[in-house]
Amino acid sequence: MKIAFFDSGIGGLSVLAEALRRFSGAEFLYFADEDHVPYGTKSRAEIVRLSLDAVGFLVSRGADGVVVACNTATSAAISELRGAFSVPVIGMEPAVKLAADSFGARPTLLIATPLTIAGEKLARLVGRLECETWSLPLPRLVEFAQDLEFGSPAVRTYLREELAKFELERLGSLVLGCTHFNYFKDVLREILPPHVRIVDGIDGTLNRLASELGGGLKLAHGEDLPSQVAKFDAKDGIKFDTNSSTQVSKFKAEGRGADGYAKFNANSQTGELDARERDGRLAGDVHAVEQCGEDKRRMLPRAVDANLQLKLYSRGGADLSLEFEPRGNEMDIPRVNYPNGNSVEYFYSGRALDAAQLRKVELFLKRLDAMREIN
Ligand code: DGL
Repeated sequence: MKIAFFDSGIGGLSVLAEALRRFSGAEFLYFADEDHVPYGTKSRAEIVRLSLDAVGFLVSRGADGVVVACNTATSAAISELRGAFSVPVIGMEPAVKLAADSFGARPTLLIATPLTIAGEKLARLVGRLECETWSLPLPRLVEFAQDLEFGSPAVRTYLREELAKFELERLGSLVLGCTHFNYFKDVLREILPPHVRIVDGIDGTLNRLASELGGGLKLAHGEDLPSQVAKFDAKDGIKFDTNSSTQVSKFKAEGRGADGYAKFNANSQTGELDARERDGRLAGDVHAVEQCGEDKRRMLPRAVDANLQLKLYSRGGADLSLEFEPRGNEMDIPRVNYPNGNSVEYFYSGRALDAAQLRKVELFLKRLDAMREIN
């Protein structure tokens, strides 16, 4: 079973990263519409058109289900997508209900793209809540993320100035209503008063995915699907349950705890270069290359191992340096293997990523990994 994730850019990797922890043996596709990002400042009609193209591409690559890992595309195009394709299409909505149910004694502040904030879908969602909900469009944050600028002085100033428009002390929670905003949890945490919780919609989306696809997805390490419900429950002693998933009764009070992905992280710290990397070859199917020779090699299903990739560019333990040398001209790596037996094929607007782009993706996943416990 192939599950596809679609976003305007790198934001949806936050949902994919969590899926890589939660599920095992899954084949994922990831589509970032890098040619057209940002979506949040485009017209609804344009986003509908772009989303239909993106999901059409993913279905043509064999997707059995599609997660629209983009609040903006969900807001603008989810009905059109569901009408156009027969595979399940799971949308992503700002987790304002989760926030209201958990911390609703105080106001919620929703940050999202201008399109999501102006959308009818959000108005309906918020209209059903009793909690006071404020909203703030942050279009520049999407641009900062796409420019790989995560913790710069400019980012800090922008967020401080924008958030200063609100009485932050009164808040109960800040809802990340755009998947790109997950990259900035550390900066947001610095700015927000300590009692304000940061809430994202990732768990809810993955719970929905698991319940819609029934037995199609296997959970990693025999664990039940954890959720933000359990996370807040365990850490803050606050009880709430807004999860619509059929799996809700099976949640463990573990939240986003350590699991197989920790290994992925630990390996990335070693700074070692694998012998095959030193030889300047791909970390992929070397055995097959030797058997079949150069010509046939191009036709083989190829894969690179994410652990080996990470070792290469985190040498010296200098993690999250966004500067690295491209590793050669290998342009045909369609698939990356991850722990838990998962794999991902990455596309930027329909083009398979080259080796340098894939290495950047690994850096994004690492950054997201560092952000995931911040709430
Ligand atoms: N990541 C997207 C979201 O969740 C949209 C960002 C954009 O392209 O403006 O809303």
